[in-house]
Amino acid sequence: MTVQFSDVEFEKLKKMLCVYEWGLQTLMTKLRIVHSDLKSFQDKDIIDHISSRLKTPSSIALKLYKLGKPLTVESAAENLFDIAGCRIICHFNEDINSLVGILRSMPDINILTEKDYVTNPKPSGYRSYHIILEVPVFYSGRIENVKAEIQIRTEAMNFWSTLEHKVRYKYKGEIPKHLSDELALIAQKTDELDNRMFLIHEIISMLNE
Ligand code: GTP
Ligand code: MG
Repeated sequence: MTVQFSDVEFEKLKKMLCVYEWGLQTLMTKLRIVHSDLKSFQDKDIIDHISSRLKTPSSIALKLYKLGKPLTVESAAENLFDIAGCRIICHFNEDINSLVGILRSMPDINILTEKDYVTNPKPSGYRSYHIILEVPVFYSGRIENVKAEIQIRTEAMNFWSTLEHKVRYKYKGEIPKHLSDELALIAQKTDELDNRMFLIHEIISMLNE
């Protein structure tokens, strides 16, 4: 399905996306500093990698349409919190908690909401920790607080959600129940593997001490 902004709104959207891009770059710089600091100064190797993406105009339009919201720039800024998005991939479950603690303590970002799908997975089986925050960007003589979403997950959670997303999007419509049940089961097994790996990691750390 294609939903499009009017020409006038599209021009305004391009400008708004510039500001979101600056917000995303600012946030990525902060996250890269956290990553380097943990590795270089604190000997904590908990982050595997960090990635980011800006939502495209067509995906912004589609999401607004699905939410039943007006196709305007103001409506996008008001109703969408993941136009700018970062993903932090950690090694183990407990690394997620450490990272959330660090993000909460950062004075230069403002956390708006947190959703813990690690403790409370979605019915689909999806697990990740989501944070919606604001990052200040100074331009044209003023500060604008740009909203962004950070998804924090382990490599195992990322394996499941990336492939599940791919499978789900390939299918036109709601996927059959036996397949979504199977995906939920794979999510459970992935969680099991996460825990078993963590246990080995803990035992080896103890043996080293
Ligand atoms: P969105 O409108 O999709 O952003 O969802 P939401 O506003 O209800 O927020 P939520 O925190 O539930 O989900 C936000 C994002 O998490 C999604 O855009 C996906 O990237 C991811 N996500 C949520 N549920 C699933 C799922 O079942 N499978 C996968 N692969 N990703 C999911
Ligand atoms: Mg989203």
